[in-house]
Amino acid sequence: MNGGCGIMEGFSEAMPTLSLNLRRYLLKPTTRENVVKLSDMREFFADRDAVERVLSRRDPKIYEYREFTPGEGPGHLSVGITVIYPGKVGREYYMTRGHFHLKDTAEYYYCIAGRGILLLQSRSGEVACAELRAGTIAYIPPGWGHRAVNVGRGRLAFLYVYSSDSGHDYGVIKEKGFARIVVEERGRPKLVDNPRYARRPPRRKEEDK
Ligand code: F6R
Ligand code: ZN
Repeated sequence: MNGGCGIMEGFSEAMPTLSLNLRRYLLKPTTRENVVKLSDMREFFADRDAVERVLSRRDPKIYEYREFTPGEGPGHLSVGITVIYPGKVGREYYMTRGHFHLKDTAEYYYCIAGRGILLLQSRSGEVACAELRAGTIAYIPPGWGHRAVNVGRGRLAFLYVYSSDSGHDYGVIKEKGFARIVVEERGRPKLVDNPRYARRPPRRKEEDK
């Protein structure tokens, strides 16, 4: 973190700060950085044939995020920046994997640039969504799974803040998906039912008894 300079010169009590480069979407310093490629999230897109078709040619970067966590133990807040590239897999727009927090903690997303949709889903399957555009602040209430989708032509960038000890659960989304997905239809984003949502093998006869 920056120790303070300029007008803070001589202030021995100066609190360290972070810096965010809004042109290159760089946060400094970071404690975690992650680049997610299509091969890292093949189970998260609904059209698996489209995933394999793309992967047979190349493995595109879908999104990346950089994060800073100030310390261990309860009470801290993490801050980070996520950048989702523009593109689609089949008809589905590039997006984050999406997750539930392991603890019932909330989160804020502040959209810096681009056009997106924040998909929200409660544990009991209720669905909600919010538009993300430069200047929007979206609130993710405790207990709601969340995924950001880039529906624009450029990068979608947002800052996020959440409780550092939240934990992330990707398992449910990986297995069941979100109930709704965002696809392109006639050149526009559309929220549709996810054909793979909670698909289970057909029950055998004996189980019907
Ligand atoms: C943290 C959070 C975001 C996401 C990031 C990547 O709780 O919601 O920082 O972690 O946008 O998305 P996931 O984690 O779904 O791959
Ligand atoms: Zn989160």
